[in-house]
Amino acid sequence: MENLLVRAARGERTERPPVWLMRQAGRHIPEYREIRDAYSFLEAIKTPEVAAEITLLPWEYYRPDGLVMFSDILTVLEPLGFDYRIESGVGPVVENPVSGPDDVDREPGDVAEEISYVGELLDRLDERVGDETALIGFAGGPFTLASYAVAGEPSRTHLPLRKLRARHPEAFRTLLAAFADVVREYLQFQIDHGADVVQLFDTYAATLSPADYREFLLPLHRRILADLDAPSIVFVRRMNGRLEQLEATGADVIGLDWTVEIGQARERLGDRPVQGNLDPSYLFGDPSFVRERTREVIEAAGPRGHILNLGHGVDKDTPVESVEAFVDTAKAFSWD
Ligand code: CP3
Repeated sequence: MENLLVRAARGERTERPPVWLMRQAGRHIPEYREIRDAYSFLEAIKTPEVAAEITLLPWEYYRPDGLVMFSDILTVLEPLGFDYRIESGVGPVVENPVSGPDDVDREPGDVAEEISYVGELLDRLDERVGDETALIGFAGGPFTLASYAVAGEPSRTHLPLRKLRARHPEAFRTLLAAFADVVREYLQFQIDHGADVVQLFDTYAATLSPADYREFLLPLHRRILADLDAPSIVFVRRMNGRLEQLEATGADVIGLDWTVEIGQARERLGDRPVQGNLDPSYLFGDPSFVRERTREVIEAAGPRGHILNLGHGVDKDTPVESVEAFVDTAKAFSWD
């Protein structure tokens, strides 16, 4: 039978919810930290055998229903001419950020060539576990990527990018569109290399006002997600008041952060599949607490078209036992 996660993404009733965690392939796993002692982050994501080994760590620990490829949303910066690094204690840093409104009209390089390492990673994973679990590809959304490209570093308020919108709306539009074109091509490239589902992370997009989201970003989200050859998930934090805007993206699955009541989201979204949404901080509770809260999410979401996940990424200090309790609760659950 077809993969459980893909079936839920298509809106089918499943015997239990499929489960995976955003940021499952990262620092909360001890072996990840060991591998990172030997390779920088960029070396790790650009070396397919190392990235495959990291992607498979959560498989060895938890056997989730989906494996998210070990990579980063920032990979698409390079085809647009931005160089970046991950600085410990700071986060992503762009060496040559957008210098002004005249520096946004960028001719993208060849995605398949410049990000060939992700194609190779997915080929390897497909060969290793392609029949046993869903491979999840992903890309950042235009707003989140442009925020790093303009600010040059993590920005809590995203003010540098929002200033561009206020002062040079056409430059803002051009920059977002350049990212959208590359991201669309990149997601289809991942699908061509075996991704069964893809997630668009425009994590910070709710920083835009609803009117600006509708005018500038929604058409790009729609364009990115239209006609992909695999089901898509859209994830934007803090969209609780604006779920209808996420629905309008056309994504097959609507990602929910933990500030959304998943049962209410169901009522607002009709039969559109949803993903989420346990509060990641609950994984710092003891395993029985994790199991109880997880069951509540599953029951509130119902049997049709639900992919169990956290409401955002797993924190780096999360105990392995809690992730185990989370995954095992989904696997032991039965709607029959
Ligand atoms: O396990 C997975 O989910 C797969 C891989 C993945 C990473 N980043 C690995 C990573 C995914 C899906 C991402 C997405 C991502 N990256 C987003 C969107 C989703 C979200 O969580 O909001 C964003 C905004 C980024 C940009 C980025 N890259 C950040 C904020 C950081 C963390 C910086 C820090 O020091 O905390 C990174 C680096 C990064 N990406 C790490 C990992 C495991 C940590 C690298 C390390 O220190 O080893």
